[in-house]
Amino acid sequence: MENIAVIGAGTMGNGIAHVFAQKGFKVQLIDAQAPALEKAMATIEKNLDRQISKQTITTEDKASTLSNIQLSNSIEQGVAHADLVIEAATENAEIKKKIFASLDQYAKPNCILATNTSSISIGELAAATKRPTLVIGMHFMNPVPIMKLVEIINGEATAASITDSIVALTKKIDKIPCVVKDAPGFIANRILMPMINEAIHAFSEGISDAATIDQIMKLGMAHPMGPLQLADYIGLDVCKNIMTIMEEGFNNSKYAPAALLVKMVEQGKLGVKTGEGFYKY
Ligand SMILES: NC(=O)c1ccc[n+]([C@@H]2O[C@H](COP(=O)([O-])OP(=O)(O)OC[C@H]3O[C@@H](n4cnc5c(N)ncnc54)[C@H](O)[C@@H]3O)[C@@H](O)[C@H]2O)c1
Repeated sequence: MENIAVIGAGTMGNGIAHVFAQKGFKVQLIDAQAPALEKAMATIEKNLDRQISKQTITTEDKASTLSNIQLSNSIEQGVAHADLVIEAATENAEIKKKIFASLDQYAKPNCILATNTSSISIGELAAATKRPTLVIGMHFMNPVPIMKLVEIINGEATAASITDSIVALTKKIDKIPCVVKDAPGFIANRILMPMINEAIHAFSEGISDAATIDQIMKLGMAHPMGPLQLADYIGLDVCKNIMTIMEEGFNNSKYAPAALLVKMVEQGKLGVKTGEGFYKY
């Protein structure tokens, strides 16, 4: 695999493009919105500069990384030569199904189609294509250049040889692959989100204040960040959506988003991105 196309140049897409380009892959970074592409390149440059100041890369590495990235606002042109497409567009099943249908139309017949979705079923996205054996989940963590884990999700139809290729590729970019089956929330969010939700229940019952709840989990469980602060960073809307997808997917009310979480989302208190969540920013 030499040519990688990344669909969506937001938070995750720019990080995924950065990591592959730095490892010498040719990357097409594709977004429907031109400003998103400009912002992504500025972010990648800023993150490369940070790596230079930490002396983990040289100025030559920065130049070669940037020269490996091409920008495009057309899926048709951007994926034409890709060996692998990684879709990192907005977390919305309808948007992603449309993207997968057009990837199937325009990508080479043997091109692998991966998705960075946090919660949408791989099988559902594979069903939008005529190549379900070549569809797989590649769930990177934020911030991509720093976090080592890639959760690899096998759809029911994913061919074993495709999983093997993606596992090998993940190691090649210095990440650690962990392979799981396709189920609501996969593993990372299935365990993380109920913990965050439970912290919100405890907070709303007045058992303790946000800072103390977070401190207990940091000191007691060696978590680098407490669950309420982490929820603010992830975005409370994202947390609520993932809980709802698990509640519906498992048909089990134990995954119902906490009433306070729903209320805060309705009030537009989404965490860091809106300046207020469990903390003020
Ligand atoms: N943000 C995280 O912490 C995180 C972590 C792991 C996985 N994810 C997943 O990664 C994916 C992307 O998340 P994000 O946080 O980067 O989102 P984001 O909103 O920052 O970026 C999404 C980008 O997709 C673009 N886009 C939307 N529709 C498109 C289309 N049809 N064609 C091309 N581009 C399109 C948007 O213009 C936007 O720039 C989601 O599936 C999300 O669940 C996010």
